[in-house]
Amino acid sequence: MLNIEELWLTYPGAAQPSVKGISLRVEPGEFLTLLGPSGCGKTSTLRSIAGLETPDSGRITIGDTLVFGDGGRCNVPTHARDIAMVFQSYAIWPHMSVSQNVAFPLDVMKTPRQQSRRRVDEVLDMVGLRELASRSATQLSGGQQQRVAIARALVRRSPVMLLDEPLSNLDAKLREQMRVELRALLKRVGMTAIYVTHDQEEALMLSDRIALMNGGRLIEVGTPRGLYLEPTTVFGATFLGAAEVIAVTGTAGNRADTDIGPLELARVRPGLAHVAIRPEAILVELATQDGTADGTNRLPGQLASVVFSGRQQQLVVELAGGRRLNAQVDATRQFAPGDQVRVELPPARLMPLHPDPAP
Ligand SMILES: Nc1ncnc2c1ncn2[C@@H]1O[C@H](COP(=O)(O)OP(=O)(O)O)[C@@H](O)[C@H]1O
Ligand SMILES: [Mg+2]
Repeated sequence: MLNIEELWLTYPGAAQPSVKGISLRVEPGEFLTLLGPSGCGKTSTLRSIAGLETPDSGRITIGDTLVFGDGGRCNVPTHARDIAMVFQSYAIWPHMSVSQNVAFPLDVMKTPRQQSRRRVDEVLDMVGLRELASRSATQLSGGQQQRVAIARALVRRSPVMLLDEPLSNLDAKLREQMRVELRALLKRVGMTAIYVTHDQEEALMLSDRIALMNGGRLIEVGTPRGLYLEPTTVFGATFLGAAEVIAVTGTAGNRADTDIGPLELARVRPGLAHVAIRPEAILVELATQDGTADGTNRLPGQLASVVFSGRQQQLVVELAGGRRLNAQVDATRQFAPGDQVRVELPPARLMPLHPDPAP
């Protein structure tokens, strides 16, 4: 549905490119999220797709149509690209009613009045604003205004919707509710969506796939589950949740020599430089407990701190060599600072990582 090949973008006068060789393919009906820290090039990538920025080079295809390419000789203007857009600022026109706001793109295209009215009603139904159709847009709450912006983007029936942090101006509770609604809505109409956010949880909850960006580059792409449980880069492991990253000095079969001693891995990777484990995957037992005899990757340690947070407990375990590991355990377990413990790093939860690409 959308294909981006080797996209580079440098702003006039900038010391270095903001988008560095991004290639990405989005399937029809897919919900794909561009995720990464502030300033990593998400908006620049999205605006290039929309035709609001002119890339240095690369190719962008929407459906079967080349919209940017041929060394810049092909550059279809924004209004001629068949895409819908929703931004962080709702850009609702205050002097217009809800239905006038939503009808605006159809008015621009000179859609016959009756057809326009039918389509506006239809999308207002979808976003649950039919009752407020004649209300002035300024009398709406933030969440309702954002729904107007979404309805206005839906009304053109473009096959692709671009959304840039559309929920970040809403308060936490509304944001969570709108997340679920938005995904359900786009799935129902079968739209292909490219969604930009810097919020990891939002990306995990909304997306079919996540494209993780850093410093203008695409670091890795995967399903939420795949990226969280089996990231392949240090950046991927640490940006999408907490992870303890352990340096690997050598491997032999499924055994790796690491900073904290030899470890058994369930998966190895050529060029393996690090392994990582999530705090919730680290098992912790008091040293005085018997435990199972055949546990692999067991290491003795001492609890440096125990922090109870209601849902769970955060433990900091200091291993014999002085290396500290953060572990997360059930809130009901009895632990105290100074306890002698045994940690276990289950081979299946040790994530083998490549070195990150050069900046
Ligand atoms: N119009 C612009 N002119 C010059 N530099 C820009 C412009 N817009 C963004 N940048 C720079 O490009 C980089 C990527 O920005 P952006 O795409 O907005 O990142 P994100 O959306 O991931 O926060 C940043 O370093 C930013 O300062
Ligand atoms: Mg941005």
